[in-house]
Amino acid sequence: MTETEGWMARAGGCLANTYARFPVVLERGKGCRVWDVEGKEYLDFVAGIAVCALGHCHPAIVQAVTSQAATLLHVSNLYHVTPQIRLAELLCRHSFADRVFFCNSGAEANEAAIKLARKYAKDRGSRERVEIITMEGGFHGRTMATVTATAQAKYQQGFEPLLPGIRYVPFDDLAAVERAVGPETAAILVEPIQGEGGIRVPSAGYLQGLRKLCDESGALLIFDEVQTGIGRTGRLFAYEHWGASPDIMTLAKGLGGGVPIGACLATDEAAAAFSPGAHASTFGGNPLACAAALAVLRVLLEGRVLEQSRRMGDYLAKGLLDLKDRLHIVKDVRGLGLLQGMELTIEGKPVVDDCLARGLLINCTMERVLRFVPPLIITQHEIDRLLDTLSQILIKRV
Ligand SMILES: Cc1ncc(COP(=O)(O)O)c(C=O)c1O
Repeated sequence: MTETEGWMARAGGCLANTYARFPVVLERGKGCRVWDVEGKEYLDFVAGIAVCALGHCHPAIVQAVTSQAATLLHVSNLYHVTPQIRLAELLCRHSFADRVFFCNSGAEANEAAIKLARKYAKDRGSRERVEIITMEGGFHGRTMATVTATAQAKYQQGFEPLLPGIRYVPFDDLAAVERAVGPETAAILVEPIQGEGGIRVPSAGYLQGLRKLCDESGALLIFDEVQTGIGRTGRLFAYEHWGASPDIMTLAKGLGGGVPIGACLATDEAAAAFSPGAHASTFGGNPLACAAALAVLRVLLEGRVLEQSRRMGDYLAKGLLDLKDRLHIVKDVRGLGLLQGMELTIEGKPVVDDCLARGLLINCTMERVLRFVPPLIITQHEIDRLLDTLSQILIKRV
């Protein structure tokens, strides 16, 4: 039995059976590379599913986390802690937001956003204003409220009854939202680019149109930037590309660069609906997670990482489009920055498996869309390696 098989057998005997994991046991990482327990090296275009924004073991994060761990790990939100205040200030300074609620994951950030929107309406005396409009193909998490907001039956089956008051419309269809919005609409919740839904970029004018509909109807606009935020699309937040800012925005994934943290950001007006006791999280914004997030943001804001990631995003997109021109099994290439998708006419899983065998981690969503979300520090040389490997694999399948 290999070391990998040994660990897999132990996992099979003790872990909940919720993931179809690849037959690899990863042990350590550095930059854009990870190594398994057998010593095999992989180039990482998954980055923890758009989490490890600065790659693995970035010295700024390692330093921040070790120093914070030796100072203060946790005390609870009964007290003020300086890393949380510093992080909130930084997020507000660089976004539309005035206030931040911290939690531990994307789903929790969306839970906070949904609760905030309903409370905001109630505080204004609109008892019937409870509905949240979400988009088909979207993804917002796995808790009961967020899996209901996730308008994809495959994530919901078996967990009914779902949360009442959530209504679905097709993505990128402004007229459909216009028909759905009414006096009962508390908020529209949307990803600026659908990530799990297959890297779907909306048409020009869509997000601005949603902003206008919210302004006219009194509903709040919530952007779920759990996947698109923290530099993933080449800007700190994806909404900056469209100049349409939300009332509430949720973050997680890249925010902690690998340390779990989520955040729900809001304008002063929307945030006023949360008063002491209205919402809480034991671990939310604890010093360790905030220290990691501060390190991520400082590197992104002070250095040239964002600028370089934009260039690399363009380079990756161009390389993928070249493959599309050469290979008819590539149906579409779409994305922004280092959030890129390649839709195939065939199943993506065998391609992902082949990549893994060749020491390259990529991921597939919606069965046929290969997703590329490398660390934002990825280099041209590493992208060339991805494109070469992908080209060799796809040519075999034409
Ligand atoms: C857009 C979006 N929202 C929410 C989530 C849920 O985040 P988490 O898994 O941290 O709960 C995800 C996760 O993939 C996501 O992509």
